[in-house]
Amino acid sequence: MKMNGMRMFKWLNAILPAVVLAAGLTGISGLAAAPAQAAGPGPEVCKNCHAAQVESYEASMHGQKGNLKGPANAGACAACHGDGTAHVAAGGGRGVGGIVNPGPKSKMSADAKSKICLACHETERQLAYWDSGKHKKNDVACTNCHNPHSESPSHLRKDQPSISPYSTSGKQPQYETCATCHKDIRAQIGKPSHHPIVEGKIKCSDCHNPHGTLSKAMIKSETVNTLCTSCHTEKRGPFIHEHPPVEENCLTCHDVHGSAHTKLLNEKVPNLCQNCHSSGRHPGTIYGSNMGFGGTAQNSRFFARSCVNCHNQIHGSNASTSGRGEFFTR
Ligand code: HEC
Ligand code: HEC
Ligand code: HEC
Ligand code: HEC
Ligand code: HEC
Ligand code: HEC
Ligand code: HEC
Ligand code: HEC
Ligand code: HEC
Ligand code: HEC
Repeated sequence: MKMNGMRMFKWLNAILPAVVLAAGLTGISGLAAAPAQAAGPGPEVCKNCHAAQVESYEASMHGQKGNLKGPANAGACAACHGDGTAHVAAGGGRGVGGIVNPGPKSKMSADAKSKICLACHETERQLAYWDSGKHKKNDVACTNCHNPHSESPSHLRKDQPSISPYSTSGKQPQYETCATCHKDIRAQIGKPSHHPIVEGKIKCSDCHNPHGTLSKAMIKSETVNTLCTSCHTEKRGPFIHEHPPVEENCLTCHDVHGSAHTKLLNEKVPNLCQNCHSSGRHPGTIYGSNMGFGGTAQNSRFFARSCVNCHNQIHGSNASTSGRGEFFTR
């Protein structure tokens, strides 16, 4: 075949999009194969009555033709709302013409709602344990957290936007999405000592995968300690002199979301220590009558109550034994 430069260019132009599209559909990225093309009237028809939704759709990743496996190449609105032909013919209306609404207020089952999203998102790594996750098992659907028409990062829902005293930006922090249901956690992160979640420095999803994990409480690491020491690396050890409860579980002494005691401790020192160290050479309890200056009344003075003033390497020590490393004092 003989072609001059110009004709070759035109021919390539005609065939390239098709090649790229085919490559996209056979799974270069982590997304599942696009679902069977849902049919129905397109955004230009819906726009007459739903201008806001069409606008948010077109501004979102879902509305980009460049996302080859996205709704824009799979029937647009119909990818999530089904065939809207009858809905349009009837002049619209809630529940009219079999229009599908996967939102939280609709009566569809949670699994049926999520199935619409999973048709495309199922094979993504972060969703690998969706089926084992607590959310799916408790009928929480994708759309309880995500609203594809929302402009917030990751399309997270903004149902009860609050004006955060800690943040000057208008953006709703991620925890607000979670706190609408997890009211107990919202209360905890407001306690005097807390991980800086309300301050926007860390997010719930730094520690949890809300899509599900195989670990307890959907934390992102296999164990609590590997999670904690992924950020607090200096507590990881190994130490020459280890403090057994530290190796075992950080949460033996700490709360994670918030606490009324300093440093997220779940009890105040010395009580915390005395749960395990009830007696010793300096027990930290009230002097007994035989320890005071005479008389029969118990002496109300305490000794050595601020345990960590001296035992300041409480997570473990690398000091030599002659340097009292074994007592975590240095
Ligand atoms: C990726 C899936 C998806 C796509 C694509 C999509 N929507 Fe939606 N849409 C939703 C979800 C989920 C809701 C429920 C939102 C909520 O209430 O949180 C919704 C809500 C709506 C509502 C409001 C329903 C109500 O309760 O008031 C309308 C109207 C709507 N969409 C129209 C459209 C139109 C028109 C298009 C195409 C331009 C479109 N949607 C594309 C998922 C989608
Ligand atoms: C002639 C006007 C009109 C057109 C065109 C139209 N709708 Fe609607 N639609 C409505 C009205 C009115 C409602 C009810 C809204 C309400 O009660 O707030 C509605 C409701 C919806 C809902 C919510 C359904 C529910 O049961 O909660 C969705 C989703 C929706 N439309 C999608 C679409 C899509 C997608 C298209 C285009 C294929 C479309 N609509 C075209 C008028 C229209
Ligand atoms: C037709 C396929 C398809 C359907 C159906 C679909 N998505 Fe998507 N979605 C995509 C593609 C493609 C992207 C682009 C990002 C990517 O490549 O991962 C995307 C992106 C996203 C993002 C990231 C957006 C961002 O701006 O960061 C979220 C969140 C999301 N989808 C949630 C949903 C939810 C929830 C549903 C169901 C209501 C849904 N999707 C339905 C294909 C789809
Ligand atoms: C309990 C709340 C919750 C549920 C339920 C949920 N998600 Fe998410 N999703 C999130 C959060 C939070 C993020 C952001 C994670 C981050 O920033 O690290 C996210 C991120 C995503 C992203 C990536 C967006 C991006 O910016 O890259 C996709 C895609 C997604 N979710 C799809 C889904 C699908 C599909 C479902 C249902 C099968 C679902 N999600 C269910 C909370 C949820
Ligand atoms: C610094 C890491 C971290 C952050 C940030 C975090 N969590 Fe947790 N979360 C954990 C750990 C660790 C557990 C407990 C696991 C265990 O008991 O073994 C837990 C437990 C939970 C539990 C179940 C048990 C309980 O204590 O009630 C829920 C629900 C929860 N977190 C929700 C959230 C929400 C919502 C956010 C954001 C506001 C959040 N978490 C932020 C680490 C974290
Ligand atoms: C629509 C309500 C709802 C929203 C929104 C929601 N959750 Fe949940 N979540 C639940 C339910 C219901 C359970 C299961 C019952 C329970 O353990 O409280 C659960 C369980 C969990 C657990 C596991 C608790 C355990 O004991 O194993 C964690 C962790 C968690 N959610 C974190 C989050 C995070 C992080 C977000 C925000 C990204 C979030 N949730 C948003 C309803 C919700
Ligand atoms: C994603 C990173 C991250 C993870 C994971 C993490 N933390 Fe933190 N932690 C922080 C940050 C950031 C601070 C605040 C530090 C600051 O303000 O200087 C903090 C502070 C603390 C504090 C001091 C609180 C105070 O009031 O001064 C304690 C105690 C703590 N974390 C324990 C834990 C425990 C226990 C775990 C595991 C359950 C854990 N952390 C997991 C990031 C993390
Ligand atoms: C035996 C109880 C105990 C255990 C178990 C424990 N801690 Fe602590 N932790 C403390 C005490 C007590 C303080 C306060 C020290 C102070 O006030 O000087 C503290 C303070 C902290 C602080 C803030 C101050 C600092 O030193 O940076 C962080 C972060 C911390 N612990 C992380 C962890 C991690 C991570 C683990 C698990 C690997 C863990 N802790 C296990 C008792 C414990
Ligand atoms: C959950 C129980 C537990 C808690 C809480 C606890 N410890 Fe320990 N601690 C141990 C165990 C077990 C050992 C190892 C004892 C041994 O080797 O004989 C130990 C060892 C020690 C040692 C070294 C003693 C020795 O004989 O080698 C000191 C000092 C110590 N702990 C101080 C503290 C202080 C201070 C606190 C409070 C901040 C505390 N511990 C909280 C269980 C605990
Ligand atoms: C004034 C400093 C100081 C304070 C405060 C202090 N300790 Fe000690 N502790 C020491 C020293 C030094 C040793 C090593 C003793 C030795 O070498 O004879 C020690 C030893 C220990 C031991 C191991 C020996 C034994 O007696 O069993 C434990 C356990 C212990 N302390 C726990 C605590 C607890 C719990 C508190 C708080 C109630 C506390 N300490 C407060 C300085 C202190």
